[in-house]
Amino acid sequence: MLEVIYYVASSLDGFIATPDGGVDWLAPFQDSDEDYGYSAFYDSIDAILIGSRTYEQSLTFGEWPYPGKPVWVFSRRPLAVGGDDVMVTDRKPREVLGEIESRGLRRAWLVGGGALAGSMRASGLITEYVVSIMPVTLGAGIGVFGASGPPERLQRQQTTEYPDGVLQVRYSPA
Ligand SMILES: NC(=O)c1ccc[n+]([C@@H]2O[C@H](COP(=O)([O-])OP(=O)(O)OC[C@H]3O[C@@H](n4cnc5c(N)ncnc54)[C@H](OP(=O)(O)O)[C@@H]3O)[C@@H](O)[C@H]2O)c1
Repeated sequence: MLEVIYYVASSLDGFIATPDGGVDWLAPFQDSDEDYGYSAFYDSIDAILIGSRTYEQSLTFGEWPYPGKPVWVFSRRPLAVGGDDVMVTDRKPREVLGEIESRGLRRAWLVGGGALAGSMRASGLITEYVVSIMPVTLGAGIGVFGASGPPERLQRQQTTEYPDGVLQVRYSPA
């Protein structure tokens, strides 16, 4: 079965970006010597799932953030894409996961953002949550999950505390 891991950084008050989509508040952590397990996680995944707003923002960062991995961008618009291994799809996430699985891929990173993660959570498609709770409050912004859905009971798998106050929690559906 394809694993779908929502690996994301959230403020303590549950936001992944400021109201205008800003992620500068994450910069001090990205500049730190600590990588919070990111390299090992990135090496472990076979595919990337990303909403169109997060994808379009990632194109403004200069360096392509997803080297060496096939990327599925969810959009109902005809987006211009940057590379050979970037597919824009207007299909439902469940169908896309079937296609990824049929390619023999095993682990997909659901990058986000909140809208895509919310719709995939509501459809019961997320098999693991890895949330890095950053020692920051934003007051307002784009939520970890931008859509409603039924409650889901989770089981904690792991908690990692970092000296700078980041707390990484790993959950799977109970
Ligand atoms: N802190 C973190 O770790 C982190 C991680 C990821 C993202 N972010 C931030 O999240 C923000 C963007 O999040 P967002 O919630 O606004 O947008 P998003 O989830 O990145 O993209 C949402 C868009 O994807 C398209 N889409 C296609 N199929 C969809 C489906 N089944 N469900 C939902 N959307 C679908 C829709 O646009 P069209 O069809 O019109 O194209 C929709 O408006 C950015 O600011 C980014 O920086 C932060």
